[in-house]
Amino acid sequence: MEFDCTYFDKAIDRRNTDSVKWDARELMKEGGIPLWIADMDFPCPPAVVEAVIERAKHPVYAYTIPDDGQALVDFLKRRHDIDLEPANLLVFPTIVSAIKACVLSFANEGENVLILSPVYGPFYSSILDNKRNLVDIPLIKDENHRYNIDFDAIENSFKNDNVKLFVVCSPHNPVSRLLSQDELRQIAILCNKYNVKLVVDEIHCDFVYPPHKFTSILNIAEAPEDTICLYSASKTFNVAGLRQAYAICRDADTLEKIEDTADKVDALSANIFGLVANKAAFSLCDDWLDGLIAYLDNNRKALAEFLQNELPLATLTPIESTYLAWVNISAYETDNEALKQRCYEKGVCVNPGIIFGEEGGKGYIRINFACPKEQLLEGMRRLKIALTEKE
Ligand SMILES: Cc1ncc(COP(=O)(O)O)c(C=O)c1O
Repeated sequence: MEFDCTYFDKAIDRRNTDSVKWDARELMKEGGIPLWIADMDFPCPPAVVEAVIERAKHPVYAYTIPDDGQALVDFLKRRHDIDLEPANLLVFPTIVSAIKACVLSFANEGENVLILSPVYGPFYSSILDNKRNLVDIPLIKDENHRYNIDFDAIENSFKNDNVKLFVVCSPHNPVSRLLSQDELRQIAILCNKYNVKLVVDEIHCDFVYPPHKFTSILNIAEAPEDTICLYSASKTFNVAGLRQAYAICRDADTLEKIEDTADKVDALSANIFGLVANKAAFSLCDDWLDGLIAYLDNNRKALAEFLQNELPLATLTPIESTYLAWVNISAYETDNEALKQRCYEKGVCVNPGIIFGEEGGKGYIRINFACPKEQLLEGMRRLKIALTEKE
């Protein structure tokens, strides 16, 4: 099968499939176009679907043991040149549960955990819900609307605030930014110098657009041996509903500590369909993934073009990675509630920026462009009306 434009152009009807994106009626009325939560409106790779169906034919869906993870080890070597052993992997239901296990393992109540805002919402809740103290170092925008890391502020905080843990998002959601080798090296050096545990969420690492190249924290020589990387097939192969993710670390003691924490709330078991889906995805679907990235790259350009021509006062943050666009729409609307209401009425749904940070997200929306191009453009036409036609 060819995974070309024609393949990804085909719209798939996801209504009434218990989909958060499509079926959350309070956010979007019937007939609406969802450009919000980060999953894709494309079918999973055929090899994944076949593997799940094949397993489903066996009529016992009882307790599971995780497999050895060799398929993921091989995938990460093949796609990102990362050297790992199966023993470096720990299975979690989700990345967010793994972040929470890291927060609980490496910072005590009241101790400081550092993040770079704006960032994916559960980074905040993982810290605050567990009564750890959040230290927020905002990313700084340059004249091209690209976000940069304030290394001086990080070092100051490491020096003065007794930070225990630094949770980094790389590639960064929502600002669509790849961290360069040099930036990762600087982060690693600071964590080493001030003895801060480092967790890097790399869930978006497969979505990278030319000429950019992804570097994993696991390939940074200066990164402490006990650095934890989080990875999952859920974004890459659109299998978030199968709930399986991995904490990856080369230091056995660190992994054991996270495992002990997760064990306390029984958050380690594998999902029977997740297991076979992951194995198929990591072993058999490189051509599907290559086709997907090429398609998304095209959507990325179509979105930029639409904004430039139809909403010229909006500013698009350069999209180096992820399938999420971070757009400043404050020239059109600053009232978040009013915009939400008009989007609802016009039949489109986007994420309000403030869920990624009260300050840094003000005046922004996040647009998910992982859907057939026609659907994206229809959603954007509706968004334009919601932003510009205020009766
Ligand atoms: C940076 C980041 N981490 C984690 C997740 C969620 O992963 P999971 O569903 O495995 O918790 C997302 C989803 O959008 C994300 O953007």
